[in-house]
Amino acid sequence: MKVIHLICAARPNFMKIAPLYHALKDKSWCDTKIIHTGQHYDYKMSQAFFDDLDLPKPHCHLNAGSGSHAEQTARTMMAYEKLCIEESKPDLVIVVGDVNATMACSIAAKKLHLKIAHLEAGLRSFDRSMPEEINRLVTDSISDFYWTPSKDADENLLREGVQSEKIRFVGNIMIDTYCMMQDRIEKRAYYDSLGLLPQQYVVLTLHRPINVDRAERLEAIFEKISQIDLPIIFPVHPRTRKSMAHMKAVPRNLMCINPLGYIDFMSLVSKAAYVISDSGGIQEETTYLGVPCFTLRDSTERPVTVSVGSNQLVSLDNLLEKIQCPKKGTIPDLWDGKTASRITELLELVVLEE
Ligand code: UD1
Repeated sequence: MKVIHLICAARPNFMKIAPLYHALKDKSWCDTKIIHTGQHYDYKMSQAFFDDLDLPKPHCHLNAGSGSHAEQTARTMMAYEKLCIEESKPDLVIVVGDVNATMACSIAAKKLHLKIAHLEAGLRSFDRSMPEEINRLVTDSISDFYWTPSKDADENLLREGVQSEKIRFVGNIMIDTYCMMQDRIEKRAYYDSLGLLPQQYVVLTLHRPINVDRAERLEAIFEKISQIDLPIIFPVHPRTRKSMAHMKAVPRNLMCINPLGYIDFMSLVSKAAYVISDSGGIQEETTYLGVPCFTLRDSTERPVTVSVGSNQLVSLDNLLEKIQCPKKGTIPDLWDGKTASRITELLELVVLEE
């Protein structure tokens, strides 16, 4: 039986491993172990997603915790290397997305000569001031198998010299997660518990260092959105909460709430008039749902959400103008809820045969 490590660390990863875990858990040819590096550890940032997504307790928790990038990356590498040496080495390490643990576990695994598959490979913002771009570049420079969510990702990898036979366009795993949970999301009607009506509110999320680490920037964002004529629901990320700690007031139309679990959050997003965000994954989820999304960033590593989907890049200068022209878009190729089964087939046929 082949041993597979599914690495997860932080909020967006839990959604990315869930469909794959459920697709693999009963296969007789593999033993799939969830490894949680501990980058996110608050109940609302971690365990809430395990509960919502029916994920079991991780096989191992590396407790890497918070810290500077180097500290967090180093602690993750040390703990993961130790695990691989002390337990039997896995036949395949699957890393997802672009958080620090994605890069850290890839480096540790590669130096132990383990095979790595990167799910959501090839995305590029071409902005190396973003920590995630460094994580994506490093991970993709040492992976063995590249599973991409969109054709632009294939092109990026080919341009960087990755051999075409290592790249497989498998589609978007986050859409599998949504499809898997759709019935429960539709039944939830979370807006109701906040006293809101469908399409009569906006959802805001902000957690990128560039938007939230400096109080002046965050205040400028709040000043701008105070001019929006709808209630704005703002689940506040712990990083953002720190920056808001010294603020005297927030706009009257802003409803600050705690971070939400997956089902509550997707229920809220699916019925929003539109979303303002700096997240990566939300650009994809809104595209699938046809909910207009205004991404408060200069670049996106997910260009298909702009060229095909409902996403628009905005600045503080043009936000109020752009929200007058929302876009519904269409759904990109292979964002169909079948990505995990395509990967399972690939694993069975090719990867684990080697
Ligand atoms: C990380 C990812 C980012 C992802 C985001 C989703 C990297 C470089 N960044 O950013 O790509 O979009 O997760 O949330 O990997 N904190 C808590 N409780 C927690 C986790 C964090 O209070 O459970 C606080 C800590 O003070 C910590 C800060 O939030 O220092 C930032 O957390 P960290 O994981 O370093 O980065 P994120 O901003 O969450």
